[in-house]
Amino acid sequence: MSKVARKSKADKKPTDQLTEAEAHGELKRLAAEIAEHDRRYHQEDAPTVSDAEYDALVAKNAAIEARFPQLIRSDSPSRRVGAVPLAHFAKIAHAVPMLSLSNAFAEEDISDFIDRIRRFLGLDEDKAVELTSEPKIDGLSISLRYERGRLITAATRGDGSEGENVTPNVRTISEIPHELKAPDVPDVFEVRGEIYMRKDDFEALNERLAAEGGKVFANPRNGAAGSLRQKNPEITATRPLRFFAYAWGEVSALPATTQSGVVEAMNAWGFPTNPLMKICRTFDEVVASYRAVEVDRATLGYDIDGMVYKVNRLDWQERLGFVSRAPRWAIAHKFPAEKATTILRDIEIQVGRTGALTPVAKLEPVTVGGVVVSNATLHNADEIERKDVRIGDTVIVQRAGDVIPQVVSVVTERRPAKAKPYEFPTVCPVCGSHAVREINAKTGRVDAVRRCTGGLICPAQRVERLKHFVSRDAFDIDGLGDKQIAAFYEEDHITQPADIFTLEARDAANKEKLADKEGWGATSVRNLFAAVDARRTIGLDRFIYALGIRHVGETTARLLARTYGTFDTFREAMTTAAADHESDQYDELVNVDGIGQVVADAIVEFFAEAHNNAVLDDLLQYVTPESFVVEDTSGSPVAGKTVVFTGTLERMTRPEAKAQAERLGAKVAGSVSKRTDIVVAGPGAGSKLKKATELGVEVVSEDDWLALIG
Ligand code: IVH
Repeated sequence: MSKVARKSKADKKPTDQLTEAEAHGELKRLAAEIAEHDRRYHQEDAPTVSDAEYDALVAKNAAIEARFPQLIRSDSPSRRVGAVPLAHFAKIAHAVPMLSLSNAFAEEDISDFIDRIRRFLGLDEDKAVELTSEPKIDGLSISLRYERGRLITAATRGDGSEGENVTPNVRTISEIPHELKAPDVPDVFEVRGEIYMRKDDFEALNERLAAEGGKVFANPRNGAAGSLRQKNPEITATRPLRFFAYAWGEVSALPATTQSGVVEAMNAWGFPTNPLMKICRTFDEVVASYRAVEVDRATLGYDIDGMVYKVNRLDWQERLGFVSRAPRWAIAHKFPAEKATTILRDIEIQVGRTGALTPVAKLEPVTVGGVVVSNATLHNADEIERKDVRIGDTVIVQRAGDVIPQVVSVVTERRPAKAKPYEFPTVCPVCGSHAVREINAKTGRVDAVRRCTGGLICPAQRVERLKHFVSRDAFDIDGLGDKQIAAFYEEDHITQPADIFTLEARDAANKEKLADKEGWGATSVRNLFAAVDARRTIGLDRFIYALGIRHVGETTARLLARTYGTFDTFREAMTTAAADHESDQYDELVNVDGIGQVVADAIVEFFAEAHNNAVLDDLLQYVTPESFVVEDTSGSPVAGKTVVFTGTLERMTRPEAKAQAERLGAKVAGSVSKRTDIVVAGPGAGSKLKKATELGVEVVSEDDWLALIG
């Protein structure tokens, strides 16, 4: 039997005789015990109880929850139903990254999107930008690689660069062909699209699972994900999975010159494509397509959470390229959030990585759009005051897509008589340091956010920094998530990044083995150590992002990696810049196009802090950041060159010129200095051209530039 939690007498009592306090204790014990059995079953393949015993625990948990719904825990097994089993799949690197989409909520965002495309491509007002419009399917994306018409591999999106190899599972999906017989299929073609489950199929599946005494899924999306990510493909084969093709990855040739043309071709090769896809020539047509689908949304038979618009011409898609992780040529237009009414039981203050105090509403659990919600963000003190949210209030909450649920408003008529306005704490609830509202350097106004001034003496900030360090876009260590970091921190096993990399050696020297600890086992420990080892060398951009420097997100981290190339160069420059704001190094940093004063100062401050340098020195004993490799610019004549554009460009717009130069490995700077290699000057060039001439920097015309880059 499990040793996870001590039992009390309540364990033996019939459910209908439990007091509330006993029920509370029992639910806690059951949650821990069931989680432990799940882990043994899914991760270790070594269950220690029979299915019947397991079912009895689940049934008991459900019975207690039915009697005391107010006690349902956020980690209750009844709410974890449908959790993705943690099977271990091999990784597959995507030859072409799997991107995400930027989101739009208002129609105005869509006209901005179209305007942005026009500006980027330098199109006239009256030139139509043809867009495809299609539903955004709520499933999981997949990349199917075909070589000479045969399905070779299938990979999930993963982090976008690397996904999981789920080929045997995908082969069981009847809507996905194993072989493409059409004569015009290119040698290599990666079909991308969404695996999903229809709502009726989902309900039938849940009925079947429940009848078999198994777990049910929370919604069709979880049903699709959980069914695909099965260790045993025979189980996947019994699940009603479906597929829509809507994009592609690496291809040796394209069957058409438009988005809609390629989708039609994929359909002709045997892939289901969405019948609601339309081509829109004007903003009004786009809006009409959105409204038409929104009306039919409930009767489509499958979940969608918005529409996706894509530039139809592929040559334009190519020119538009990407920003960060999303294409400039596509956007998701989300449907309005779903709402529900519930009671706000408490307000909890969470302390983030940068010390920001975020109020979180603890709610009476309520189902919003098919998902049970018990926490919602209240943003900050101003928001609480503006909405006058009080503990005990009846509130309206909403949730849209993957966004954190929010408290929208209060139903004041239902306010309890003694509810008092909420007083936002002025000290950090974790470390007791003062919490202050700083003057925002960007706006000059008092920040809406109150921040703990404890810095690294605040355990909450330290642990949040560690969570950031291992997060998906940073070190992304499999098996080391928020929960594990919190536990390791609590026990003093990991208090700074370097500790992650000495964990294995310390465990070997320790009498108390990690493998014997609750929640771990031999297999998961082995996997963890392997995952840690795999990160002893890491891309420079991920490394910089992982440091958690204020204002340095993924995009800025990549920009810094691209600009400085190696960590040593970066650090040396930042150390000099920190010591002397008049230095060339400081100038160069502020001059990087895309890095403003506020960001530059945050970076410099980070490197001026002795503690950060100590943490870095420790970490660098175990981890090697790789030099940043710019994507295949070996043949590029401008790779590594610093370029400044000035004056009017006539052949393309400034953003396009910049994006193109960066694609070819050049760095684009905003002003001319002696580090500038080339100035591209168009008509009307003024002071920058003058400075370039003074400094003897090479000046070329737009045509020369285009000839140079071929
Ligand atoms: S296009 C480069 N089209 O949405 C753009 N994505 O937020 C590739 N999705 O990961 C995506 N329906 O899982 C596209 N009709 C559709 C979609 C769709 C659902 C998902 C997809 C993607 C996510 C991006």
